[in-house]
Amino acid sequence: MHAIAPSILSANFAALAQDVGLVEKAGAEYLHIDVMDGHFVPNITIGPAVVAALRPHSKMIFDVHLMIENPEKYIQDFARAGADLITVHAEATVHLHSLLQKIKAAGCRAGVALNPATPLDVLDYVLELTDLVLVMTVNPGFGGQEFIPAVVPKISRLREKLLAVRSHALIQVDGGINVQTAAIVARAGADVLVAGSAIFGAVDPAAAIAEIRQAARG
Ligand code: DX5
Ligand code: ZN
Repeated sequence: MHAIAPSILSANFAALAQDVGLVEKAGAEYLHIDVMDGHFVPNITIGPAVVAALRPHSKMIFDVHLMIENPEKYIQDFARAGADLITVHAEATVHLHSLLQKIKAAGCRAGVALNPATPLDVLDYVLELTDLVLVMTVNPGFGGQEFIPAVVPKISRLREKLLAVRSHALIQVDGGINVQTAAIVARAGADVLVAGSAIFGAVDPAAAIAEIRQAARG
């Protein structure tokens, strides 16, 4: 079964706990938390204080997507705040291997995110430290952008690559995921589907989660 990861970027920031409760009750497995610093990406969002504030309200897997420069500096902070999984961008560090080691040492699962233009090769020597690969299907920075279909073959190639080396890393996709694109990425091999606007922008977010899950099932 595919896992669903609602992105709180599109939630109501004035009533976050309420929105988080809603998607948890609807059966979402992950809570996707987008951290942006205004440098790696143009937008600024939330930091460890918000993660810590939400932690007592939810048992979901806290999936922290770091879109920041110098991610090395903040791993401890997010781990302490209650992150279960910390995903870093391969493009944001020159020391990806040691950064993943740092995430593991902090007691979290480690994810590697790849921008649409980034090839899969960067994963070659870090797969044994990688629990999840996040394939960006938009350029990171904002919710509500259009899915980039050119990335779909990258998902299929990643699936083949993981099979070839017997890696159990999960494939997560993020950006422009809705009922239509969920089917496409699931067919290509995605395991975890992030969706922000398609869930929190829907009149009934619980129904949206069910529909995306159903579409992914094919
Ligand atoms: C974009 C973020 C996404 C964003 C997705 O940089 O990483 O997680 O919230 O939003 P939608 O699902 O609206 O494209
Ligand atoms: Zn994200």
